[in-house]
Amino acid sequence: MTKLLWGCQVIKTSTRRISKYVDKDRTGRAIRQKFLDYFINKNNHNFIKSSPVVPFCDPTVAFVNAGMNQFKGIFMGTQQPQYKKVANSQKCIRVGGKHNDLNVVGGDGYHHTFFEMLGNWSFGDYFKQEACELAWKLLTQEYKIHPSRLYVTYFKGDPLLGINEDLETKEIWKAIGVSEDRILPFTSKDNFWEMGLTGPCGPCTEIHIDHTTSNNRAKLVNKGLHDLTELWNLVFIQYNRKSNESIDLLPEKHVDTGMGFERLTAVLQGKTSNYDTDNFTYLLKAIHKNCSKIPEYQGKFGENDWNSLDASYRILADHARMVTVCLADAMIPEQNQKLRRIMRRSFLLCENVFNKDKGLLKELSNYVIEHLGCVYTELERNVKQIHQIIDYEEEVYKSVRKQATEEWNKLAKNQPQLLSLDINENPTLVAGYKEIKTTNPKFIDAQLAFKLYDTFGLDEESISSLAQILNLPFNASDLHKQLELAKIRSKDQGLMSGPSVYDQLNKAKVPKTDRTGLYCYEKKSGKYVFDNLDVRILKIIKDSKLVREIESENFCSLVLDKSNFYTEAGGQISDRGTIQFGDYMFEVTEAQDCNGYILHKGFLRSGESGRVKVGQTGTLKIDSDFRLKNMRNHTAIHLLNSVLKKVKGATCQKSSKVTHNYFNLDVGIFDEKLSFDELESVESVIRKAIQSHLPVTITELDSQKLTTLDEIILIPGEVYPETGIRVVEVKSCEGVLSREPCCGTHVLNTSDIEDFCIVSMKSLGRSTTSIYGVTGYKAKVARSNGIELLNNLETLGKSVSDNIDKPDVLNMAITSFKKQLNYSVEDENILPVIVKQQCADILNKISKQIKDSGKRNLREFIEIEMRNAMESNVSHTKNNRKYMVHYLRTSLVLENVSLQKATNLCPDIPVLIISYSDNTVKARCCVPGNMKNASFDAEKWMRETVAAIFKCSLVPSKGYDPSVVCNMKAKRIKLEDWDPLLQESLELAKKFAEQNL
Ligand code: ALA
Repeated sequence: MTKLLWGCQVIKTSTRRISKYVDKDRTGRAIRQKFLDYFINKNNHNFIKSSPVVPFCDPTVAFVNAGMNQFKGIFMGTQQPQYKKVANSQKCIRVGGKHNDLNVVGGDGYHHTFFEMLGNWSFGDYFKQEACELAWKLLTQEYKIHPSRLYVTYFKGDPLLGINEDLETKEIWKAIGVSEDRILPFTSKDNFWEMGLTGPCGPCTEIHIDHTTSNNRAKLVNKGLHDLTELWNLVFIQYNRKSNESIDLLPEKHVDTGMGFERLTAVLQGKTSNYDTDNFTYLLKAIHKNCSKIPEYQGKFGENDWNSLDASYRILADHARMVTVCLADAMIPEQNQKLRRIMRRSFLLCENVFNKDKGLLKELSNYVIEHLGCVYTELERNVKQIHQIIDYEEEVYKSVRKQATEEWNKLAKNQPQLLSLDINENPTLVAGYKEIKTTNPKFIDAQLAFKLYDTFGLDEESISSLAQILNLPFNASDLHKQLELAKIRSKDQGLMSGPSVYDQLNKAKVPKTDRTGLYCYEKKSGKYVFDNLDVRILKIIKDSKLVREIESENFCSLVLDKSNFYTEAGGQISDRGTIQFGDYMFEVTEAQDCNGYILHKGFLRSGESGRVKVGQTGTLKIDSDFRLKNMRNHTAIHLLNSVLKKVKGATCQKSSKVTHNYFNLDVGIFDEKLSFDELESVESVIRKAIQSHLPVTITELDSQKLTTLDEIILIPGEVYPETGIRVVEVKSCEGVLSREPCCGTHVLNTSDIEDFCIVSMKSLGRSTTSIYGVTGYKAKVARSNGIELLNNLETLGKSVSDNIDKPDVLNMAITSFKKQLNYSVEDENILPVIVKQQCADILNKISKQIKDSGKRNLREFIEIEMRNAMESNVSHTKNNRKYMVHYLRTSLVLENVSLQKATNLCPDIPVLIISYSDNTVKARCCVPGNMKNASFDAEKWMRETVAAIFKCSLVPSKGYDPSVVCNMKAKRIKLEDWDPLLQESLELAKKFAEQNL
């Protein structure tokens, strides 16, 4: 009866202004809270936190675009719901794919790139009737919206989909009391809701609101009127849309509803534009406050907004919210071109419209954080990250923009249509355009589109515009498919690497390998124990073909009934080990996951007669030492990743590698480069964690639970499974030290890492730092190598002043020390990178000391050496003519040598001097005029000998006749090439003099 009562009101009550009904507290915050209270306190729903806007378990959408995204697994029947009835307010982004509102933002008062969706869900619990009743009652009785302002739509049916008109819903609305002329049927375009190109879907019923108090405007529903808009969508999820476009029934029926919070607020605050509600006014005021020379926001649209100033206000306010929310959820603009473009568009608006060339977006993010941080606490928690990335992006953008604009204008000389694309907003267009031009394709196929997207950072819109300008056909769905493939590929390499082997195994109905023992290991009496498994060979693969048996020393893959070998995933390399077949041993060098079949690759090692056959049984054994080293390094890299984030704020893992020898983390740091001091403190936190014997725990969660966890490190772009996500966690008494989903294997306690040391740190490009580290025994080795080297260096340092007159001895020592700083991370002579840096500094200091003293003694050195040379190095030809060919050894320790000073000391005889300083060879020769002859003069001597060997040209010496004085042009020669070239040239120069003087 009550239901009918509401209906009676529709008919009997005349239209009244909303303000008479609404509560006193009409702030956005109160409105949101009322929604949640209604479902949670009054209608037995459970609250579920908003998921992050990064869809980490679903490769089919780029952003979370609806409240239901986090429940996709429940709808699909792959996950069990924790509660049957839930409600929340979800952060949503609609800037791409099926639901894209980007281009209309600013032009009207109710489209946004970021908005909050209020929703309630029933997972196999209530269905159409209760969903409609709950919604209607909330709007009309709690929010007190007069029913005369509401219309409902329902699904008219679709012969293509084979679904009939949803008369059930129509009847429900009638029974609720909505008058029939307000219950309107619509086609699938409006009333069949789909999450993306694939996934859960179903007919929906929408509640629309008339923002005016006019009479019945049913005819205008769904006509795009700004004052008659959709308010709440109630979807009856029953189907799954597959990639071949057909639809299947889902195992159960569900309700998924979504109401635009910003629109609801506008309705309840009596505003026609969302931007006039308190969800936005604070931001519009903030923009004005920060740019007071610009007129205030006036709320004008279209022609009234003649200079688009108000539209710019709206866009900037919208984008500031979107950017802040995305960055708080660890989305990285470098990896999300849409976000990057929106940030760039915001920077441009700040600069061009609001005359602020720096810092405005960051300032606005503070307002957003203040306003939304109490609802979505991650905003407050991640302030530093948000600020850092905005600063970083602003700087990157500035530096690329200027150059790109110049280049673009140049390119546009030949192709003027290019000017229709906004290079300011998207500077990577230059590189993308050039790529297309060089490949000169007939059309933009999936591969090229993907390259433009992935390598050149162009989004779909830009690719399509470029294609249009260049008159090249381009089908956006090719790109979508390629993107999906790329995500799936990165998730499941096994599937891609051996499809033909997979097909054969699948066709032969071989059961997939039982991996239940994969994570079963324990520590007994202080030792890690990995179970040995009794296994049977199901198939043998040789050269991609199934064979019955295998002989010794032939490389092949064994498919067993079960396996506990780890296969390469999450950066960790595969296990290795053995399979003992009686007397024969099979050495497993690598295990690979071929979509559920574990291929144990390797060789039978058992003399010539050895053979194993399909069906044979044996014992599978993991190389436990190798595995333990991998586990140490894997847990260590988690600690590094999270401690780095704590120290540097905005960081993001770009790739990782875990082997038995070392681990390597490539990490984006959106801040100043990591300093050695910071690195030292990162190391010390990690060592402290190791010394504190902290348990490493692993919890299996599904994607829904994962979204409820704070302080978790997710890898942007990574697609996590929906269920069975292993979350690896280390907690110290100060809180969570590391929490990361991971399929790898880890030590059970941090103390088992034993020791930790970073042995290399390099920059890769603007933001990425590549860090290599070691644990356990290797870390100890690195540290003791470091101590030894520092001791030796100290000794060298002390001996410098005593040996300053023997610079070549000192330099030899320096060269040998420098060699020790050049190691590979897999070597035994690794060093802590901090020590390496200290040593390099000390060596540079000593070198400088030697050079300085060398400079002081330059003249002296050369003089001494030349005088000595004149006593001992002068040669005589057969006819007893004197000459000298001399390599100036002291030059090695000098920064620069004046050969003229050297030759001046030897005025009476032909002299040829060679020097080598700073890896550069120089030579000069002088032949007294009275000693020249037709075949011997300075120029000839130099050209035919030293200059020929070093392949150098000659340079005249100012004011001298080249036959008397000749210089060879200086040239850089590598140290390792120096000696043989020197010897050869000395010999040749002497020979020439012998023969011709
Ligand atoms: N998932 C539905 C929507 O986003 C409620 O409109």
